[in-house]
Amino acid sequence: MTSERTGFVWTWLPGETSPVPCGMLTEQSNGSLAFQYGRHYLERGDAMALFGLPLAPTRYLSSGYALIPGEVQDAAPDGWGRRVILETTGQHGAVPDNSAGLRELDYLLRSGSDRIGALDVQRSSAEYVPRSPDPATLEQLQRAAELIEEGVPLPAELDRALVHGTSVGGARPKATITVDGQPWMAKFSSSSDHYPVVGAEAASMFLAKKVGIETVDTTVVRSLGKEVILMRRFDRPPDGTRKHVVTALTFLGLDEVSARYGTYPDILEALRTHSDNDPARELFRRVAFNIAIGNTDDHVRNHSAFWNGAALTLTPAYDLSPTSRSGETASQAIAYGRNGERESNLNLLAKHAADMSVTRAEAHDEIDYIVGTIRDNWSEAADFAHLTDTQRSSLWGRQFLNPGALRDR
Ligand SMILES: Nc1ncnc2c1ncn2[C@@H]1O[C@H](COP(=O)(O)OP(=O)(O)OP(=O)(O)O)[C@@H](O)[C@H]1O
Ligand SMILES: [Mg+2]
Repeated sequence: MTSERTGFVWTWLPGETSPVPCGMLTEQSNGSLAFQYGRHYLERGDAMALFGLPLAPTRYLSSGYALIPGEVQDAAPDGWGRRVILETTGQHGAVPDNSAGLRELDYLLRSGSDRIGALDVQRSSAEYVPRSPDPATLEQLQRAAELIEEGVPLPAELDRALVHGTSVGGARPKATITVDGQPWMAKFSSSSDHYPVVGAEAASMFLAKKVGIETVDTTVVRSLGKEVILMRRFDRPPDGTRKHVVTALTFLGLDEVSARYGTYPDILEALRTHSDNDPARELFRRVAFNIAIGNTDDHVRNHSAFWNGAALTLTPAYDLSPTSRSGETASQAIAYGRNGERESNLNLLAKHAADMSVTRAEAHDEIDYIVGTIRDNWSEAADFAHLTDTQRSSLWGRQFLNPGALRDR
């Protein structure tokens, strides 16, 4: 157990390139954190509320099984980041849960400062000291990720470099990296991959753009004999400002335990409550595309929105990653129907399209366009993703356009 009891949340206000302190986190006896805005921050004319934490001198406690309240929840490292932190704090091979002796506050204070969104957590409210990793090459980051997966202790020079991987969520090995002076994200192959996961995600990003889903610039490079997917970060505009990002887990008010009860209609409703433009068609397109490419891991942390203090707007799509699949029956991670319908089938999705404010005719137009576009562009997408002939034929008809997704229902 450590002696850290408090931490300070720093935020990048809209249009600003450096952060200001906005509030304090206090550790509770169960390891959860309470948040309270600082008086100076509340007095600022330009103070922006973090999502779920209205500007008020209130002490916000986390609720349900959540350990961190509001938008700060999304700043905490996820599966991969926690693994790296445990490794780099000498807890070789430890499992990322509280039994390893680290609590939420420790993870927040030890992860890199270049985290997703526009928040950071610091030990002081007076001075901002970013936890910036040593510069590292793609090969060094990839090698370090491989060693962690193999359970081999990291050499010191790689240890520092890997802070790059702790500030980004998700379970798969990854790192933040600079490409032509701009922040990008690298996702690596994993030793546990039973099919070309990186290639399948790259092909999906290519196809998503073709069907009209908003995506970031993506490229595939070969490094240390394996493919690596590189994606431009959507939370870092080129002018050095940072965009606030909240996952659907947070904007639906869910925690890790209740996460599976989130639904697409809930996401739509939350976005509409906080936004002027209507995301119904874009969200429907993303569900249909996920079904068409066999991505059944479309959980609530794989959907996010930008937050500007008043409105939520969907971020570009990410983690469009076809899931391992053997047969023709599958289910989406969250339901698209009001009554829990989640079968990975496009005709059933069309039948329940009204639950997402899309008419049956619009749904069929969308689905026909997606299916047609995937068929027409598959070969180009597979080239883009460096897929071999064998990999293409094993993915086609299994993950991509599985007969079970297309069958009449
Ligand atoms: N292009 C991007 N720009 C900014 N943030 C991103 C981008 N892509 C992903 N993210 C953020 O990084 C997190 C991890 O990314 P991603 O979901 O792709 O990883 P993963 O390890 O495959 O996740 P999972 O655990 O769902 O399998 C996301 O939850 C999202 O917050
Ligand atoms: Mg993810």
